[in-house]
Amino acid sequence: MTSQSQPSSQPEIEFDADDPVIQSLAAGVPTTWFRTDLDFAEVALRRIVAGPDRGVSPDVGVEPDTGVEPDTGVDPDTGVDPEIVDRAAERFDRFAPWFAATFPETAAAQGIIESPLIPADAAQADLNERLGAELPGRLWLKRDDALPISGSIKARGGFHEVLEYAEAVAAEHELNLNEPATYSSEEFRALAATHRIVVGSTGNLGLSIGILSAALGFAASVHMSADAREWKKELLRSHGVDVVEHPGDFVAAVSAGRAAADDAPRTHFVDDEDSRSLFAGYAVTALRLKKQFETADVSVDADHPLVVYLPCGIGGGPGGVTYGLKRVFGDDVHCIFVEPSEVPAMFLGVRTGLHSAISVQDIGLSGATAADGLAVARPSRFIGPVISPLISGFATVSDDVIKAGVGVLHQTEGLDVEPSATAGLTVPWRTSGHLGEGVRSRNATHLVWVTGGAMVPADDRRRYVAEGLDLLPSLSA
Ligand SMILES: Cc1ncc(COP(=O)(O)O)c(C=O)c1O
Repeated sequence: MTSQSQPSSQPEIEFDADDPVIQSLAAGVPTTWFRTDLDFAEVALRRIVAGPDRGVSPDVGVEPDTGVEPDTGVDPDTGVDPEIVDRAAERFDRFAPWFAATFPETAAAQGIIESPLIPADAAQADLNERLGAELPGRLWLKRDDALPISGSIKARGGFHEVLEYAEAVAAEHELNLNEPATYSSEEFRALAATHRIVVGSTGNLGLSIGILSAALGFAASVHMSADAREWKKELLRSHGVDVVEHPGDFVAAVSAGRAAADDAPRTHFVDDEDSRSLFAGYAVTALRLKKQFETADVSVDADHPLVVYLPCGIGGGPGGVTYGLKRVFGDDVHCIFVEPSEVPAMFLGVRTGLHSAISVQDIGLSGATAADGLAVARPSRFIGPVISPLISGFATVSDDVIKAGVGVLHQTEGLDVEPSATAGLTVPWRTSGHLGEGVRSRNATHLVWVTGGAMVPADDRRRYVAEGLDLLPSLSA
């Protein structure tokens, strides 16, 4: 192995600097890695086994008597409690009446927070032409841009962790935690006001945590990185959330949030780098997606493989979704994580095996991207070590392609999304010759997870679309 040492102020890291895939990442060019050595899903899932229960609320690890955030961290050796996703699904079900009553836009879906699944034939035809190749199979979009309340994939995990904390606080004060009306009661709201939820974010996790915390009556602080968009900060302030701005990157914002929450009484820190509660919230979608495919009369089985393309930042969102999907669809689903070419944090962490011990700056990349939600230079401490045996591949795309994706979806499907959301859009056109026969056949379903957009203000939306349309000629797979 060629050793690559870092400047003396950094801990020493070693990786194979001769690896052509790492060299391609370091050059900042679009890179793809399809993994051919994965175990069968059943074997890999069995290895990802339960860790010890932790107190009253094992998923979030809350100790409500002190309100101090204990260990939400995950020892990669302890794995995942297989019940965690079912408990999260039950929690969302318990809160559905509260959502329906509190957020009228969720009433039609009886308070279930889920996004539409739609075929994207027009986008597929357009991209076939632009990319000069026919995609066998059919392109679908999972529209997390339209998730209610906070308009991004981060709502899945973020809402779950806030709800779990709310239950822990209710339990501590002997309120009926299973009764949705508890969370609208004056008694609960008075209690919640004495508790604070803290998070570090590039924007969308902050939106989900801040908006939901405020709706439950919690005090909330969101520590925002330099990449966070101004409108996200303003929106949070309009909900009464305390926004703390940091000049540094996401890692700096998270550590500032962690430090602020450390030892503070009645304070819960949502740790995007390491939380199982977030993870479980993301994974719940798999159970719903199975039903959505059944309703749409789309088969997912050995002869009809499903390939899912997930924009990746810290890795929590795509990691949780992947875990859920592998539990539901096993070897019939292949999950590909997609990152901006200047910020392939999870790709680099898994490829080198160093996970969160390496950052994209260690291979000379800037870590800067127009895809603000994906601007994370160092991956999750949990997802790479524990979930990577389930990830079928990694891809990077240039910022111009990400931005052009906004133009494609606007023009072909009438959808206006934020740039981070489109990262996966062209990657299906790279699967030719990979992932097995089925993926090359007409039977394949290619599902691009479109991860955010509903909250973007009209002016920014127009700007994203105009820029995307201008960049259409530069589109490549
Ligand atoms: C729109 C959007 N897509 C994808 C992601 C990636 O999620 P994660 O950071 O959990 O990998 C984010 C993260 O904030 C996001 O905002």
